Amino acid sequence: MRQAGRYMPEYRALRERYSLLDICRTPDLATEVTMQPVRRIELDAAILFSDLLLPLEPMGIRFDFVRGEGPAIENPLRTEADVDRLRQFEPREALAHVLVAVHQIVGALAGRVPLIGFGGAPFTLASYAIEGGHSTSFARTKSMMYSAPEAWHRLCALLADTVADYLVAQVEAGVDAVQIFDSWVGVLDARDYREFILPHTRRIFDALSPYDVPTIHFGVGTSAILRELREAGGHVIGADWRTPLDEAWDRIGHDRGIQGNLDPTLLLGPIDQVLDAADDVLARAGGRPGHIFNLGHGILPATPLERVQALARHVHQQTGR
Ligand code: CP3
Repeated sequence: MRQAGRYMPEYRALRERYSLLDICRTPDLATEVTMQPVRRIELDAAILFSDLLLPLEPMGIRFDFVRGEGPAIENPLRTEADVDRLRQFEPREALAHVLVAVHQIVGALAGRVPLIGFGGAPFTLASYAIEGGHSTSFARTKSMMYSAPEAWHRLCALLADTVADYLVAQVEAGVDAVQIFDSWVGVLDARDYREFILPHTRRIFDALSPYDVPTIHFGVGTSAILRELREAGGHVIGADWRTPLDEAWDRIGHDRGIQGNLDPTLLLGPIDQVLDAADDVLARAGGRPGHIFNLGHGILPATPLERVQALARHVHQQTGR
């Protein structure tokens, strides 16, 4: 869950010399940054260093990351004509650098831990493309969804096909599992999720099913739609901290795995509280197979690295792994 990043001094040092996009586009740098947390923390997996938004550019949506403000899209989608201008592309060409990075990372890991690849799900990608950056109300996104449903479905189908193809390419390049981030889809209720998102996200999981690769489906604030996320797909469903893990798992169903769900902001406070909360998550998982201990969302930049190290060590001690 954003395990590489600004809370690590070696990441900050690299970021003084290179932009985020430089790192994403240069396999040697992406490999180095992917390995940074694996060297420092007792992690059970590495996650490819890249960004969710990378596939937007070859579709015809230009963006950059503005320091302190996050992504900024130059030409956000505002009309149906904007949607119709988008292009499908070949990820093995346009995003070849990511696939080269995957090869290099697999080599650097040398089997120490598996590598997770990832991509964005249609709602979250569409929301950046339409809003032009981060949003709290998702007003423009929902406005297109409700007012121009045909354009919305064309957009989501294109995003789903694009991401599915890109994830298959990551699997062929060597990732051991894939995570699909629908970070902001929790702003939808179950009815809208079913109508506007579920069929599209399901296409991504269907495209991956012949490859026999474990899949994780993640979103934030999804307590009310965990059953729908499950229906869309994923061997493992990610849950944030708002719902206790046992309740979330009951909703998801015990025939699926669960990932989560410690509140990442706890890591800004005393370590005793972090470890107590981790024990509570583990107790709620009850030692059942299929629990991936994780934070409920990304590590915050102000997090002291020692607390992340202590947390990972503690979880291994408590679970005997
Ligand atoms: O976990 C990892 O180590 C992999 C790296 C990773 C990044 N982005 C690098 C990154 C992953 C998995 C992502 C996915 C991503 N990107 C998501 C989904 C995950 C989530 O957090 O819900 C989203 C919504 C994005 C889009 C994005 N990229 C935003 C909103 C931002 C700005 C956020 C911020 O805190 O500034 C980014 C920038 C970004 N992508 C950073 C990192 C490490 C910030 C660090 C930097 O600027 O150097």
